[in-house]
Amino acid sequence: MRRLEEFRMHLGQYDLAPIMIGGMGVDISSAELALEAARLGGVGHISDAMIKTVTDRRYKTKYVKAKQSQYKYVPETDDKSNVKFNLEHLAEATRLHVEGTMKRKQGPGLIFINCMEKLTMNAPKETLQVRMRAALDAGIDGITLAAGLHLGSFALIEDHPRFREAQLGIIVSSVRALQLFLKKNARLHRLPDYVVVEGPLAGGHLGFGMDWAEFDLATIVTEIIQYLKTEKLDIPVIAAGGIFTGSDAVRFMEMGASGVQVATRFTVTKECGLPDDVKQEYFKASEDDIEVNQISPTGYPMRMIKASPGIGDGIRPNCEAYGYLLDANGKCAYVTAYNREVAAHPGEKRISVMDKTCLCTHMRNFEIWTCGQLTWRLKDTTVRHADGSYQLLTTEHVFNDYMHSTDNQVSLPSPEATPSAGH
Ligand SMILES: Cc1cc2nc3c(=O)[nH]c(=O)nc-3n(C[C@H](O)[C@H](O)[C@H](O)COP(=O)(O)O)c2cc1C
Repeated sequence: MRRLEEFRMHLGQYDLAPIMIGGMGVDISSAELALEAARLGGVGHISDAMIKTVTDRRYKTKYVKAKQSQYKYVPETDDKSNVKFNLEHLAEATRLHVEGTMKRKQGPGLIFINCMEKLTMNAPKETLQVRMRAALDAGIDGITLAAGLHLGSFALIEDHPRFREAQLGIIVSSVRALQLFLKKNARLHRLPDYVVVEGPLAGGHLGFGMDWAEFDLATIVTEIIQYLKTEKLDIPVIAAGGIFTGSDAVRFMEMGASGVQVATRFTVTKECGLPDDVKQEYFKASEDDIEVNQISPTGYPMRMIKASPGIGDGIRPNCEAYGYLLDANGKCAYVTAYNREVAAHPGEKRISVMDKTCLCTHMRNFEIWTCGQLTWRLKDTTVRHADGSYQLLTTEHVFNDYMHSTDNQVSLPSPEATPSAGH
Protein backbone atom coordinates (compact mmCIF):
# COMPACT_ATOMS: atom_id res chain seq x y z
CA MET A 1 0.00 0.00 0.00
CA ARG A 2 1.20 3.48 -0.82
CA ARG A 3 2.03 6.19 1.67
CA LEU A 4 0.92 9.82 1.51
CA GLU A 5 4.56 10.91 1.25
CA GLU A 6 4.66 9.43 -2.26
CA PHE A 7 2.26 12.16 -3.47
CA ARG A 8 2.72 15.89 -3.98
CA MET A 9 0.18 18.70 -4.06
CA HIS A 10 0.66 21.26 -6.83
CA LEU A 11 -1.01 24.60 -6.29
CA GLY A 12 0.04 27.08 -8.97
CA GLN A 13 3.84 27.11 -8.97
CA TYR A 14 4.03 25.54 -5.51
CA ASP A 15 5.10 21.96 -4.95
CA LEU A 16 3.81 20.90 -1.53
CA ALA A 17 3.18 18.00 0.81
CA PRO A 18 -0.48 17.05 0.18
CA ILE A 19 -1.71 18.12 3.62
CA MET A 20 -3.68 21.25 4.43
CA ILE A 21 -4.57 21.85 8.04
CA GLY A 22 -8.03 23.38 7.89
CA GLY A 23 -9.05 26.71 9.38
CA MET A 24 -10.57 26.48 12.85
CA GLY A 25 -12.27 29.57 14.09
CA VAL A 26 -11.29 31.94 16.81
CA ASP A 27 -7.65 30.99 16.85
CA ILE A 28 -8.07 27.22 17.30
CA SER A 29 -6.01 26.91 14.13
CA SER A 30 -3.46 29.19 15.71
CA ALA A 31 -0.52 30.88 14.05
CA GLU A 32 1.71 28.28 15.75
CA LEU A 33 -0.22 25.40 14.18
CA ALA A 34 -0.20 27.00 10.73
CA LEU A 35 3.51 27.81 10.99
CA GLU A 36 4.31 24.17 11.71
CA ALA A 37 2.31 23.03 8.69
CA ALA A 38 4.25 25.45 6.51
CA ARG A 39 7.59 24.47 8.02
CA LEU A 40 6.83 20.83 7.25
CA GLY A 41 6.05 21.66 3.64
CA GLY A 42 2.24 21.59 3.69
CA VAL A 43 -0.39 24.30 4.02
CA GLY A 44 -1.58 25.75 7.31
CA HIS A 45 -4.53 28.04 7.92
CA ILE A 46 -5.01 30.85 10.33
CA SER A 47 -8.58 32.08 10.74
CA ASP A 48 -9.97 35.60 10.75
CA ALA A 49 -12.98 34.68 12.90
CA MET A 50 -13.44 37.29 15.65
CA ILE A 51 -10.19 38.85 14.53
CA LYS A 52 -10.39 41.77 16.96
CA THR A 53 -10.51 39.42 19.93
CA VAL A 54 -7.62 37.45 18.47
CA THR A 55 -5.40 40.50 18.06
CA ASP A 56 -6.40 41.93 21.45
CA ARG A 57 -5.19 38.67 22.98
CA ARG A 58 -2.11 38.20 20.85
CA TYR A 59 -0.94 41.76 20.30
CA LYS A 60 -2.52 43.59 23.24
CA THR A 61 -4.64 45.84 21.04
CA LYS A 62 -7.88 47.32 22.39
CA TYR A 63 -10.25 46.92 19.45
CA VAL A 64 -13.06 45.22 21.39
CA LYS A 65 -13.06 47.92 24.04
CA ALA A 66 -13.05 50.62 21.37
CA LYS A 67 -16.10 49.09 19.66
CA GLN A 68 -17.96 48.64 22.93
CA SER A 69 -17.30 52.16 24.18
CA GLN A 70 -18.56 53.61 20.91
CA TYR A 71 -22.01 52.20 21.72
CA LYS A 72 -21.93 52.81 25.46
CA TYR A 73 -24.69 55.39 25.47
CA VAL A 74 -26.92 53.77 22.90
CA PRO A 75 -29.98 52.38 24.71
CA GLU A 76 -30.16 48.60 24.69
CA THR A 77 -32.72 47.44 22.16
CA ASP A 78 -33.53 44.44 20.05
CA ASP A 79 -32.47 46.45 17.04
CA LYS A 80 -28.71 46.16 16.54
CA SER A 81 -28.69 47.62 13.06
CA ASN A 82 -26.64 50.62 14.21
CA VAL A 83 -23.90 48.52 15.75
CA LYS A 84 -21.39 48.70 12.94
CA PHE A 85 -17.81 47.55 12.75
CA ASN A 86 -15.17 50.20 12.26
CA LEU A 87 -13.73 49.06 8.93
CA GLU A 88 -10.35 50.66 9.52
CA HIS A 89 -9.97 48.76 12.79
CA LEU A 90 -11.08 45.57 11.08
CA ALA A 91 -8.40 46.04 8.43
CA GLU A 92 -5.73 46.89 11.00
CA ALA A 93 -6.55 43.85 13.12
CA THR A 94 -6.43 41.57 10.08
CA ARG A 95 -3.13 43.01 8.92
CA LEU A 96 -1.65 42.65 12.39
CA HIS A 97 -2.55 38.96 12.65
CA VAL A 98 -1.46 38.13 9.12
CA GLU A 99 1.82 40.08 9.29
CA GLY A 100 2.57 38.72 12.75
CA THR A 101 2.19 35.20 11.40
CA MET A 102 3.83 35.59 8.00
CA LYS A 103 6.99 37.17 9.37
CA ARG A 104 7.61 34.01 11.41
CA LYS A 105 7.10 31.65 8.48
CA GLN A 106 9.89 29.21 7.71
CA GLY A 107 10.16 26.32 5.33
CA PRO A 108 8.69 25.51 1.93
CA GLY A 109 4.97 25.43 2.82
CA LEU A 110 2.25 28.07 2.69
CA ILE A 111 -0.07 29.85 5.08
CA PHE A 112 -3.64 30.67 4.09
CA ILE A 113 -6.39 32.47 5.96
CA ASN A 114 -9.84 30.93 6.43
CA CYS A 115 -12.52 33.56 5.85
CA MET A 116 -15.85 32.39 7.18
CA GLU A 117 -18.27 34.43 5.16
CA LYS A 118 -21.18 33.86 7.54
CA LEU A 119 -19.48 36.24 9.93
CA THR A 120 -21.47 38.97 8.27
CA MET A 121 -20.74 41.71 10.86
CA ASN A 122 -23.82 43.81 10.10
CA ALA A 123 -22.45 44.67 6.64
CA PRO A 124 -21.64 41.44 4.80
CA LYS A 125 -20.04 42.79 1.64
CA GLU A 126 -18.11 45.69 3.09
CA THR A 127 -16.61 43.70 5.93
CA LEU A 128 -15.72 40.71 3.75
CA GLN A 129 -14.03 43.00 1.28
CA VAL A 130 -11.98 44.65 4.02
CA ARG A 131 -11.03 41.27 5.50
CA MET A 132 -9.80 39.86 2.19
CA ARG A 133 -8.00 43.00 1.05
CA ALA A 134 -6.22 43.45 4.37
CA ALA A 135 -5.06 39.83 4.36
CA LEU A 136 -3.68 40.25 0.83
CA ASP A 137 -2.02 43.56 1.78
CA ALA A 138 -0.33 41.85 4.71
CA GLY A 139 1.18 39.13 2.52
CA ILE A 140 -0.99 36.08 3.17
CA ASP A 141 -0.16 33.25 0.73
CA GLY A 142 -3.81 32.46 0.07
CA ILE A 143 -7.45 32.83 1.14
CA THR A 144 -9.91 30.01 1.64
CA LEU A 145 -13.51 31.18 1.52
CA ALA A 146 -15.67 29.13 3.85
CA ALA A 147 -19.15 28.79 5.33
CA GLY A 148 -21.69 30.89 3.56
CA LEU A 149 -19.82 31.18 0.30
CA HIS A 150 -20.93 34.39 -1.29
CA LEU A 151 -20.97 33.88 -5.01
CA GLY A 152 -19.56 37.31 -5.72
CA SER A 153 -16.64 37.20 -3.27
CA PHE A 154 -13.81 37.12 -5.81
CA ALA A 155 -15.22 40.24 -7.45
CA LEU A 156 -14.74 42.14 -4.19
CA ILE A 157 -10.96 41.95 -4.63
CA GLU A 158 -10.64 41.87 -8.42
CA ASP A 159 -8.74 45.17 -8.50
CA HIS A 160 -6.31 44.15 -5.78
CA PRO A 161 -2.72 43.91 -7.10
CA ARG A 162 -2.39 40.39 -5.69
CA PHE A 163 -5.74 39.13 -7.07
CA ARG A 164 -4.12 36.87 -9.65
CA GLU A 165 -1.00 36.03 -7.68
CA ALA A 166 -2.35 34.87 -4.29
CA GLN A 167 -3.90 31.42 -4.00
CA LEU A 168 -7.69 31.73 -3.75
CA GLY A 169 -9.78 28.72 -2.83
CA ILE A 170 -13.35 27.88 -1.93
CA ILE A 171 -14.98 25.23 0.22
CA VAL A 172 -17.97 23.41 -1.25
CA SER A 173 -19.97 20.36 -0.24
CA SER A 174 -21.62 19.58 -3.57
CA VAL A 175 -20.97 19.74 -7.29
CA ARG A 176 -23.95 22.10 -7.53
CA ALA A 177 -22.35 24.66 -5.19
CA LEU A 178 -19.17 24.55 -7.28
CA GLN A 179 -21.10 24.98 -10.54
CA LEU A 180 -22.92 28.02 -9.16
CA PHE A 181 -19.70 29.61 -8.00
CA LEU A 182 -17.94 29.06 -11.32
CA LYS A 183 -20.89 30.42 -13.26
CA LYS A 184 -21.09 33.55 -11.17
CA ASN A 185 -17.34 34.13 -11.47
CA ALA A 186 -16.95 33.45 -15.19
CA ARG A 187 -16.78 37.18 -15.96
CA LEU A 188 -13.59 37.54 -13.89
CA HIS A 189 -11.63 34.96 -15.90
CA ARG A 190 -10.13 33.80 -12.68
CA LEU A 191 -10.78 30.27 -11.51
CA PRO A 192 -10.27 29.23 -7.91
CA ASP A 193 -6.75 27.86 -7.44
CA TYR A 194 -8.15 24.94 -5.45
CA VAL A 195 -11.48 23.59 -4.27
CA VAL A 196 -11.81 22.06 -0.83
CA VAL A 197 -14.57 19.46 -0.99
CA GLU A 198 -15.85 19.11 2.54
CA GLY A 199 -17.96 16.09 3.40
CA PRO A 200 -20.43 15.53 6.24
CA LEU A 201 -17.96 14.27 8.87
CA ALA A 202 -16.07 17.57 9.21
CA GLY A 203 -15.89 19.79 12.28
CA GLY A 204 -17.36 23.27 12.53
CA HIS A 205 -20.37 24.21 10.38
CA LEU A 206 -21.60 21.75 7.80
CA GLY A 207 -22.58 22.47 4.23
CA PHE A 208 -25.40 19.93 4.57
CA GLY A 209 -28.81 19.85 6.22
CA MET A 210 -29.73 17.63 9.14
CA ASP A 211 -29.75 14.77 6.63
CA TRP A 212 -25.93 15.00 6.54
CA ALA A 213 -25.55 11.29 7.33
CA GLU A 214 -26.98 10.40 3.93
CA PHE A 215 -24.00 11.93 2.14
CA ASP A 216 -20.52 10.60 1.75
CA LEU A 217 -17.29 12.39 0.93
CA ALA A 218 -15.92 9.85 -1.56
CA THR A 219 -19.05 10.14 -3.72
CA ILE A 220 -18.97 13.94 -3.74
CA VAL A 221 -15.24 14.04 -4.50
CA THR A 222 -15.72 11.60 -7.40
CA GLU A 223 -18.60 13.70 -8.80
CA ILE A 224 -16.59 16.90 -8.59
CA ILE A 225 -13.47 15.41 -10.17
CA GLN A 226 -15.64 14.01 -12.96
CA TYR A 227 -17.37 17.36 -13.48
CA LEU A 228 -14.05 19.24 -13.67
CA LYS A 229 -12.73 16.70 -16.16
CA THR A 230 -15.81 17.02 -18.37
CA GLU A 231 -15.54 20.81 -18.29
CA LYS A 232 -11.76 20.58 -18.92
CA LEU A 233 -11.11 22.65 -15.82
CA ASP A 234 -7.79 22.10 -14.17
CA ILE A 235 -8.58 22.91 -10.53
CA PRO A 236 -6.93 20.90 -7.75
CA VAL A 237 -9.46 19.16 -5.50
CA ILE A 238 -8.71 18.87 -1.78
CA ALA A 239 -10.81 16.30 0.09
CA ALA A 240 -11.87 17.08 3.68
CA GLY A 241 -13.89 15.60 6.52
CA GLY A 242 -13.18 12.38 8.38
CA ILE A 243 -9.76 11.67 6.86
CA PHE A 244 -8.21 10.26 9.99
CA THR A 245 -5.16 8.28 8.85
CA GLY A 246 -2.55 8.48 6.11
CA SER A 247 -4.25 5.50 4.48
CA ASP A 248 -7.58 7.36 4.36
CA ALA A 249 -5.73 10.20 2.66
CA VAL A 250 -4.06 7.86 0.13
CA ARG A 251 -7.50 6.57 -0.91
CA PHE A 252 -8.52 10.11 -1.87
CA MET A 253 -5.23 10.75 -3.66
CA GLU A 254 -5.75 7.58 -5.70
CA MET A 255 -9.22 8.85 -6.61
CA GLY A 256 -7.60 11.91 -8.14
CA ALA A 257 -7.60 14.40 -5.27
CA SER A 258 -4.59 16.73 -5.15
CA GLY A 259 -4.47 16.83 -1.37
CA VAL A 260 -6.45 16.47 1.83
CA GLN A 261 -7.64 19.02 4.36
CA VAL A 262 -7.57 17.71 7.91
CA ALA A 263 -8.32 19.27 11.27
CA THR A 264 -9.57 16.92 13.99
CA ARG A 265 -6.25 15.10 14.46
CA PHE A 266 -4.58 18.47 15.10
CA THR A 267 -7.04 19.67 17.77
CA VAL A 268 -5.05 17.76 20.40
CA THR A 269 -1.64 19.11 19.47
CA LYS A 270 0.38 21.45 21.63
CA GLU A 271 0.22 24.12 18.94
CA CYS A 272 -3.59 24.07 18.63
CA GLY A 273 -5.23 27.13 20.21
CA LEU A 274 -7.76 25.26 22.38
CA PRO A 275 -7.05 25.40 26.12
CA ASP A 276 -5.36 22.23 27.40
CA ASP A 277 -8.35 21.19 29.54
CA VAL A 278 -10.60 21.37 26.48
CA LYS A 279 -8.12 19.22 24.54
CA GLN A 280 -8.61 16.59 27.24
CA GLU A 281 -12.39 16.75 26.60
CA TYR A 282 -11.72 16.01 22.93
CA PHE A 283 -9.60 13.00 23.91
CA LYS A 284 -12.21 11.72 26.35
CA ALA A 285 -15.22 12.04 24.04
CA SER A 286 -16.93 8.83 22.96
CA GLU A 287 -18.96 8.47 19.78
CA ASP A 288 -22.21 9.07 21.68
CA ASP A 289 -20.88 12.32 23.06
CA ILE A 290 -20.81 13.98 19.63
CA GLU A 291 -23.85 15.55 17.95
CA VAL A 292 -24.84 17.71 15.03
CA ASN A 293 -27.33 20.35 16.11
CA GLN A 294 -28.91 23.55 14.89
CA ILE A 295 -27.98 25.96 17.66
CA SER A 296 -25.58 28.01 15.55
CA PRO A 297 -27.16 31.35 14.63
CA THR A 298 -25.60 31.02 11.16
CA GLY A 299 -28.41 28.63 10.22
CA TYR A 300 -25.93 25.88 9.34
CA PRO A 301 -25.85 22.64 11.31
CA MET A 302 -22.77 22.42 13.50
CA ARG A 303 -21.02 19.43 15.05
CA MET A 304 -19.95 19.59 18.68
CA ILE A 305 -19.43 17.67 21.90
CA LYS A 306 -22.78 17.44 23.70
CA ALA A 307 -21.24 18.51 27.01
CA SER A 308 -20.12 21.89 25.59
CA PRO A 309 -20.83 24.38 28.40
CA GLY A 310 -22.21 26.91 25.91
CA ILE A 311 -25.18 24.72 24.95
CA GLY A 312 -28.37 26.04 26.57
CA ASP A 313 -26.59 28.95 28.19
CA GLY A 314 -28.70 32.12 28.21
CA ILE A 315 -25.95 34.73 28.33
CA ARG A 316 -26.92 38.31 27.48
CA PRO A 317 -25.70 39.07 23.97
CA ASN A 318 -23.05 41.74 23.65
CA CYS A 319 -23.27 42.74 20.01
CA GLU A 320 -21.99 46.21 20.90
CA ALA A 321 -18.56 44.70 21.58
CA TYR A 322 -18.75 41.67 19.24
CA GLY A 323 -21.71 41.22 16.87
CA TYR A 324 -19.92 39.07 14.28
CA LEU A 325 -23.11 37.17 13.42
CA LEU A 326 -25.30 40.21 12.79
CA ASP A 327 -26.75 39.95 9.31
CA ALA A 328 -27.24 42.77 6.81
CA ASN A 329 -30.26 43.98 8.85
CA GLY A 330 -28.60 43.89 12.25
CA LYS A 331 -30.30 40.63 13.27
CA CYS A 332 -28.85 37.54 14.91
CA ALA A 333 -30.93 34.43 15.57
CA TYR A 334 -29.48 34.19 19.08
CA VAL A 335 -30.53 37.74 19.96
CA THR A 336 -34.08 36.93 18.82
CA ALA A 337 -34.15 33.69 20.83
CA TYR A 338 -32.69 35.41 23.90
CA ASN A 339 -35.25 38.24 23.80
CA ARG A 340 -38.06 35.70 23.45
CA GLU A 341 -36.90 33.85 26.58
CA VAL A 342 -36.44 37.07 28.55
CA ALA A 343 -40.01 38.10 27.67
CA ALA A 344 -41.32 34.65 28.63
CA HIS A 345 -39.57 34.65 32.04
CA PRO A 346 -39.97 38.15 33.47
CA GLY A 347 -37.87 38.87 36.54
CA GLU A 348 -35.71 35.76 36.22
CA LYS A 349 -32.04 36.47 36.68
CA ARG A 350 -30.67 33.56 34.72
CA ILE A 351 -32.52 32.23 31.73
CA SER A 352 -31.70 29.35 29.43
CA VAL A 353 -31.80 29.49 25.63
CA MET A 354 -31.89 26.01 24.17
CA ASP A 355 -32.50 26.54 20.45
CA LYS A 356 -29.65 28.95 19.66
CA THR A 357 -26.28 29.81 21.13
CA CYS A 358 -24.35 33.05 21.40
CA LEU A 359 -21.51 31.95 19.15
CA CYS A 360 -19.49 35.15 19.71
CA THR A 361 -19.41 34.52 23.46
CA HIS A 362 -18.97 30.79 23.45
CA MET A 363 -16.50 30.32 20.61
CA ARG A 364 -14.40 33.14 22.01
CA ASN A 365 -14.35 31.48 25.42
CA PHE A 366 -13.92 27.93 24.04
CA GLU A 367 -17.30 26.86 25.46
CA ILE A 368 -18.72 25.40 22.25
CA TRP A 369 -16.52 22.40 21.57
CA THR A 370 -16.98 22.00 17.87
CA CYS A 371 -15.28 18.90 16.53
CA GLY A 372 -15.13 16.40 13.70
CA GLN A 373 -17.19 13.21 13.77
CA LEU A 374 -14.10 11.07 14.39
CA THR A 375 -13.01 12.96 17.50
CA TRP A 376 -13.88 9.84 19.52
CA ARG A 377 -10.88 8.12 17.91
CA LEU A 378 -8.37 10.68 19.21
CA LYS A 379 -7.78 8.70 22.40
CA ASP A 380 -6.23 5.97 20.24
CA THR A 381 -3.67 8.38 18.82
CA THR A 382 -1.73 8.97 22.02
CA VAL A 383 -0.59 7.49 25.30
CA ARG A 384 -2.22 8.01 28.68
CA HIS A 385 -0.43 9.32 31.73
CA ALA A 386 -0.63 7.66 35.14
CA ASP A 387 -2.97 10.44 36.32
CA GLY A 388 -5.46 9.51 33.58
CA SER A 389 -4.74 12.50 31.34
CA TYR A 390 -3.87 12.02 27.69
CA GLN A 391 -0.52 13.15 26.34
CA LEU A 392 -0.74 16.07 23.93
CA LEU A 393 0.89 15.52 20.55
CA THR A 394 3.09 17.76 18.48
CA THR A 395 1.91 19.01 15.10
CA GLU A 396 5.07 17.53 13.62
CA HIS A 397 4.22 14.08 14.99
CA VAL A 398 0.65 14.12 13.60
CA PHE A 399 1.76 15.57 10.26
CA ASN A 400 4.46 12.91 9.86
CA ASP A 401 2.04 10.20 10.91
CA TYR A 402 -0.26 11.19 8.03
CA MET A 403 2.70 11.19 5.66
CA HIS A 404 4.21 7.83 6.62
CA SER A 405 1.40 5.61 7.88
CA THR A 406 0.20 2.50 6.07
CA ASP A 407 -2.64 0.03 6.70
CA ASN A 408 -4.65 2.61 8.67
CA GLN A 409 -2.03 2.58 11.39
CA VAL A 410 -1.56 5.52 13.73
CA SER A 411 1.86 5.86 15.36
CA LEU A 412 1.84 6.71 19.05
CA PRO A 413 4.16 9.35 20.49
CA SER A 414 7.02 8.46 22.80
CA PRO A 415 5.72 8.78 26.35
CA GLU A 416 6.73 11.97 28.14
CA ALA A 417 7.01 12.19 31.90
CA THR A 418 3.56 12.51 33.49
CA PRO A 419 2.59 16.05 34.50
CA SER A 420 1.94 14.86 38.06
CA ALA A 421 5.52 13.57 38.31
CA GLY A 422 6.59 17.19 38.66
CA HIS A 423 8.47 17.58 35.40
C1 LIG B 1 -12.51 22.55 16.06
C2 LIG B 1 -12.83 22.79 14.62
C3 LIG B 1 -13.16 24.08 14.19
C4 LIG B 1 -13.41 24.32 12.84
N1 LIG B 1 -13.67 25.61 12.43
C5 LIG B 1 -13.79 25.88 11.11
C6 LIG B 1 -13.88 27.22 10.65
O1 LIG B 1 -13.87 28.18 11.42
N2 LIG B 1 -13.99 27.43 9.31
C7 LIG B 1 -13.99 26.39 8.42
O2 LIG B 1 -14.07 26.63 7.21
N3 LIG B 1 -13.88 25.12 8.82
C8 LIG B 1 -13.77 24.84 10.13
N4 LIG B 1 -13.57 23.54 10.53
C9 LIG B 1 -13.49 22.48 9.51
C10 LIG B 1 -12.02 22.13 9.19
O3 LIG B 1 -11.33 23.22 8.67
C11 LIG B 1 -11.87 20.93 8.25
O4 LIG B 1 -12.27 21.20 6.93
C12 LIG B 1 -12.59 19.67 8.68
O5 LIG B 1 -12.79 19.60 10.06
C13 LIG B 1 -11.76 18.45 8.21
O6 LIG B 1 -12.27 17.26 8.72
P1 LIG B 1 -11.59 16.50 9.97
O7 LIG B 1 -11.74 17.40 11.14
O8 LIG B 1 -12.38 15.24 10.08
O9 LIG B 1 -10.15 16.25 9.64
C14 LIG B 1 -13.36 23.26 11.90
C15 LIG B 1 -13.03 21.98 12.34
C16 LIG B 1 -12.77 21.72 13.68
C17 LIG B 1 -12.41 20.32 14.12
